[in-house]
Amino acid sequence: MVTGNNQGSLFETELLKEIREKFCDVEQDPIFGCDRLFFDNAGGSFRLKAASEAFQKADSIPDCPEHRQKQALWLQEVQRKGTEDIKMMFNAPEESSVATNLTASMMMFEMTRAIAEGVPGTNVVTTALEHPSAFDSAKYFAERTGKELRVAQTNRVTGGVDVEEIVRLVDQDTSFISVIYGSNISGAVIDMEAVVRECRRIKPDLFIICDAVQHTPHAAIDLSRTPVDAVNFAPYKFFGVRGMGFAILSPRAAKLSHNQLLAKPAGDWELGSPAAGHFASVSAVADYVCWIGEKFIGAADRRALYEEGMKQINLHERALLYRMLEGGGAVPGLRHMPGVSVYLDYEDLSTRDFILAIGIDGLDYIKAVEEYEKEGVIVFERVASSHFSVRMLHSFGMEGAIRVSPLHCHTVEEIDRFLQITQKLA
Ligand SMILES: Cc1ncc(COP(=O)(O)O)c(C=O)c1O
Repeated sequence: MVTGNNQGSLFETELLKEIREKFCDVEQDPIFGCDRLFFDNAGGSFRLKAASEAFQKADSIPDCPEHRQKQALWLQEVQRKGTEDIKMMFNAPEESSVATNLTASMMMFEMTRAIAEGVPGTNVVTTALEHPSAFDSAKYFAERTGKELRVAQTNRVTGGVDVEEIVRLVDQDTSFISVIYGSNISGAVIDMEAVVRECRRIKPDLFIICDAVQHTPHAAIDLSRTPVDAVNFAPYKFFGVRGMGFAILSPRAAKLSHNQLLAKPAGDWELGSPAAGHFASVSAVADYVCWIGEKFIGAADRRALYEEGMKQINLHERALLYRMLEGGGAVPGLRHMPGVSVYLDYEDLSTRDFILAIGIDGLDYIKAVEEYEKEGVIVFERVASSHFSVRMLHSFGMEGAIRVSPLHCHTVEEIDRFLQITQKLA
């Protein structure tokens, strides 16, 4: 059933032009200089020029951020501002903690360990749709702490996991649940607000972990509506730079026993001196989204601008997704193209992020990705032979898919070019 605006709305041409100028290498391959359509943003998104520059500037400063010279104080301020921006981006309470690690996966293992070891209970609930970092850490620490692992199954129509499917596994003895916000295979967005509400109806103090790595670049997350205890994201999938995974922890989760310098307060997860450049880069991403918001609602507080910016990004992406599926130009959309299948193609596009799983008759997925590359298009195969995909694919009864993941800085013309190339391959 379609509930909302299913066709989205495109950015005005002038604004889209400005947006594209803010990103590196939207039209051309950065190494070999040829034209290319980069439709693998779920593997690592286009970089904002400002995010790369901000990283470079802060990272070129040798001063130890824990010392007292004014350059060190400047670096401290960069980190403070980045931390404030991360909380703003998630609408997280001031008292929550921001933690870092080298990757979002490492962050997930660390959070899951603290919660599994620190929160009593006899079972753990997760879903078949999780990325291995969330699924494997839930399984590993459930086993280590003697808890039963319960796995909610996916829905083959929506490409997601139904709220009721998760809720039916939760009881008074559930230590924690770990649920992905948006799928990196189907693009389906889980109704986290309902998951949190309904699961806490059963156990009011239930601990909740959420992998938001794929959803963060497509919509504003609001922890006042989805008050989870631990949520992570990866800047390199969110217009920023590679090299750090961030998490936000509720005060009660942050205080659980974790790797810690003993002199620090209980809720402080910082070990050593994280690179200030990563915080500078995240602030540049926040500035960018707020800049889009300002184009639509004028001056407002930073969170309101951020929400508006992400709303407009989401609407533009939905309009492109609709074009991709339904067509509208010279070439039919994927839904109507002979020889092409769109998997997990749920009709309500307001429940989907801009990630598609498709197949082309007679072309295996790996070969198809190679053929696309010859045509200057970068996509990625998700195949059951990969540990990163098998559980999710099999839960849908699938052996593979070509994953197509454009970004909000793409144009209708680029979507049409992709359709043309797909038609040629089919
Ligand atoms: C949904 C999801 N979670 C977690 C990760 C892991 O991110 P990282 O590579 O930073 O560990 C990914 C990476 O693809 C992902 O798609």
